[in-house]
Amino acid sequence: MRYKPKDLRVETPDVLNELAKCNPYIAQIYDYPEFLLPHPTAKNFQKLWSIKNNDNIGDSSPSKVHIEIGCGSSRYLIRLAIENPQDFFIGFELRYKRLVLAAKKIQKQNIQNIILLRERGEFLDEYFTQKSIDFLHINFPDPWPKKSKRKHRILTREFLTKIRPFFCSDGELLFKTDHLEYFKSVTQILKQLDIYSIDQHTTDLHKSAYNERNILTEFEMLFKSKGNPPIGYLRAKAF
Ligand SMILES: C[S@@+](CC[C@H](N)C(=O)[O-])C[C@H]1O[C@@H](n2cnc3c(N)ncnc32)[C@H](O)[C@@H]1O
Repeated sequence: MRYKPKDLRVETPDVLNELAKCNPYIAQIYDYPEFLLPHPTAKNFQKLWSIKNNDNIGDSSPSKVHIEIGCGSSRYLIRLAIENPQDFFIGFELRYKRLVLAAKKIQKQNIQNIILLRERGEFLDEYFTQKSIDFLHINFPDPWPKKSKRKHRILTREFLTKIRPFFCSDGELLFKTDHLEYFKSVTQILKQLDIYSIDQHTTDLHKSAYNERNILTEFEMLFKSKGNPPIGYLRAKAF
């Protein structure tokens, strides 16, 4: 019988050893301790952060801090990190396979400015101090389309309110999704909250002027190959 604990945060290495019998990627999650934390805590994250920033970048405070929640196998995060070597990138992701695939790419390309956490994005406030995040990227988050399940969405009024103090002044939220109802709902929440100002907004990213600088995610590439549905994209400043 498959062994499946429900709460990610109570998983211990022992529990993971059990799970590894069904999923080979679980065993590989420990192979990249220099940039992937399978059991992150504020303490081990801070330790890794200072090691990476002092030793690898040569600067204790990177110019900009980017976070991506649900980075998948990190096509987007890796491109951004390569384009902005002076900045620092932290990816939150839950799935073992996607984390391991991302880690393999990061290692192969010797990218030094990324840390991956196997953690829920909802807990990002446990890892960062207030006014420390420059960019928060959320690409194609699980849309939870059923009305009764919408409370599971990452971008809710509560979450957007909770994270506002963690943005630096002029910090920005970048969001894209193919689920236009979710997109409309986030747009509405941002307008109502009055703590963010939407600077860029389109319900058809690939046909808009913003497409020129767009970095495709894995899911976006998949959508493109399967009929290319319109994609909502917005960029909002926290003020
Ligand atoms: C639809 S996929 C999109 C992946 C990637 N952003 C892309 O566009 O290719 C959503 C991803 O978010 C991850 N995820 C879901 N809930 C999450 C959460 N609460 N915190 C962090 N990641 C989450 C899933 O494991 C999945 O890889």
